[in-house]
Amino acid sequence: MAIINDVNPELINCYNVIRNLSIDLIEDLKKHKNTSEYFYKIRELDRTYEFKTLSPVERASRIIYLNKTCYNGLFRVNKSGQFNAPFGRYKNPNIINADIIKSINCYLNNNNVRILNVDFAKSVETARKGDFIYFDPPYDPISETASFTGYSLNQFSKSEQERLRDVFDILTMKGCLVMLSNSATEFIAKLYEDYNIIRVQANRNINSVGTERKKIDEFLILNYPIDDKK
Ligand SMILES: C[S@@+](CC[C@H](N)C(=O)[O-])C[C@H]1O[C@@H](n2cnc3c(N)ncnc32)[C@H](O)[C@@H]1O
Repeated sequence: MAIINDVNPELINCYNVIRNLSIDLIEDLKKHKNTSEYFYKIRELDRTYEFKTLSPVERASRIIYLNKTCYNGLFRVNKSGQFNAPFGRYKNPNIINADIIKSINCYLNNNNVRILNVDFAKSVETARKGDFIYFDPPYDPISETASFTGYSLNQFSKSEQERLRDVFDILTMKGCLVMLSNSATEFIAKLYEDYNIIRVQANRNINSVGTERKKIDEFLILNYPIDDKK
């Protein structure tokens, strides 16, 4: 059995819709237009009463559309939880990726996967010895100015990073196998100094066209030995 979890209800709604209503989602995605005027009309929906009347399919379609057409594919919201990434001006964004949606739908329906929308600490409460857990938390900012305040209402502060490390410690004591990714900052290196830290290069700019992706150093942190025979 596998568990997928995120605290962001819009993201988790996408997983649920892809599992249960993928054909309706692919159909709904066809209505979108790649113009600045249309983008801001769809982006503003979460500032209106109408947002509460959208169906799960319409909400997932909106988030996928915004993700594919906004600047750098960032999911970013303001303090009131309203989407605020600007229009990305991409010539040919891949808004309807039917093959990917169908593959994820197939995977989610043919495997025993539970989809949760809770805090990370709660999602791993039932983890037992031998279970594998991967954490992909909001990244510790590389600099004060690079501080990325996106994803959800509650920003992921240094104390949230510490709370996550405490959960990592508890899972380690239980005998779970835990992997976590984060940015390669001194703060993260110190926080996980008792664990195996691998420096890796990753594409950090998730943009819809795929150009101008920069390689950036990140940490992969493991609480089990690194297999360096491969
Ligand atoms: C680097 S992103 C990972 C996104 C995810 N792996 C995906 O692509 O579907 C970090 C995620 O952490 C989530 N997050 C922030 N605080 C959280 C919390 N307290 N519990 C669970 N998830 C949280 C954010 O909503 C965001 O989606």
